[in-house]
Amino acid sequence: MKEGPKVSESSAVVSRAKGNSGFRMFLESSKILAILIVVLFLGACRGQRFEQEPVHPNMNMDQQERFEAQEQNSFFADNRSMRQPVEGTISRGNLRQDPVFYQGINEDSSFVSEIPVEVDKAFLYRGQNGYEVYCTPCHGKVGDGQGIVMTGQYGFVPAPTFHQERLRNVENGYLYSVIANGIRNMPAYAHQIKVQDRWAIVAYIRALQRSQYVPEEDIQEYDVDLASLQSDFADQQKKEQAQQEAAAAAGGDVSAARGEELYVANGCQACHSRDGSDGIGPTHQGVMGRTEQLADGSSITVDEEYLRESIVNPSAKIVEGYDPVMAPYSYLSDSEIQSLIEYLKTLSDNQ
Ligand code: HEC
Ligand code: HEC
Repeated sequence: MKEGPKVSESSAVVSRAKGNSGFRMFLESSKILAILIVVLFLGACRGQRFEQEPVHPNMNMDQQERFEAQEQNSFFADNRSMRQPVEGTISRGNLRQDPVFYQGINEDSSFVSEIPVEVDKAFLYRGQNGYEVYCTPCHGKVGDGQGIVMTGQYGFVPAPTFHQERLRNVENGYLYSVIANGIRNMPAYAHQIKVQDRWAIVAYIRALQRSQYVPEEDIQEYDVDLASLQSDFADQQKKEQAQQEAAAAAGGDVSAARGEELYVANGCQACHSRDGSDGIGPTHQGVMGRTEQLADGSSITVDEEYLRESIVNPSAKIVEGYDPVMAPYSYLSDSEIQSLIEYLKTLSDNQ
């Protein structure tokens, strides 16, 4: 019984040795195979282009009679192989027949007064989101025109505040159109903001305007102590005035040179020329001392006081023939405004 396993053990050793040599042969032949593959692979590299057509075992749509894009085709009178769509063709989903919704205008081209979309809370939030993405950098978070790029040094044309009488009274369709088409120095946003979202932003601007301005007769509807509100407001104004005076007393020098820097930094030149040519606003060449015809029919001789008012509160007196589009620069300090005035005085006729 002890012999048995020994015999079978030795035969196992023999068979393992045989197996080893078979494996070695396999290794040899696979080495040869690998060399063959490398040679074949390198053989496929050629230095120049092959002139004949490649062999195509299965014919497919690579080989067919056709015109390439932009190729000439004398079959058609305009020699173009690419045909134009039939006139009046509208791509699917782009039929924009409703001018009220898509353009914010009525049949007679006047601006629509109502937002043609149901306005609910979710819609307002959507408007807020759109506004804060696209408009805050210039118009500021509360719509006061004090966005981050408007703070002086970049020379942007200032964005106006939405909290002014004129913009409170424009139609909703007008605001929609400003967003879609841009206005004067403001770019259009039609390519970035979808129609529905433009209306949402219009709704949000209305909410912003409401947040900063409630007419007195509306306030009375609520349980508010109007007198204390008014005295708070007066206090606040007094405080602001004191701050301004303190800032003015602290200095900042007044000079025409500083005025010129401020002039450029605040983008005045975007609307006013200094060479006599007309622009969005009247030229500043020779502005000091000239007689200005005002839109209300009166006239005024330009002096320092008028210049100051024109900068701080431009809508107070509108020059005849111009739109009231200048934003108030009331955030400039006293010495800054005085510097601007000194600079304007140097822009005499005979420069
Ligand atoms: C790059 C800065 C910038 C951005 C961003 C911008 N605006 Fe303006 N916006 C302006 C300027 C500048 C003006 C004044 C244009 C002028 O009078 O030449 C203006 C004017 C306006 C006006 C007043 C038009 C009038 O009748 O005076 C409205 C309303 C307005 N923008 C809404 C928007 C809304 C809504 C957005 C966001 C979708 C927006 N703006 C984004 C710069 C900007
Ligand atoms: C968006 C265009 C615009 C910008 C920017 C602008 N203005 Fe004006 N400005 C006007 C328009 C339009 C008028 C005429 C209507 C009016 O009287 O408000 C005007 C009027 C004036 C006037 C009265 C001129 C006169 O002939 O009676 C002064 C002064 C003035 N601007 C100064 C400035 C200064 C300083 C700056 C820069 C800090 C500036 N403006 C920026 C549009 C602009």
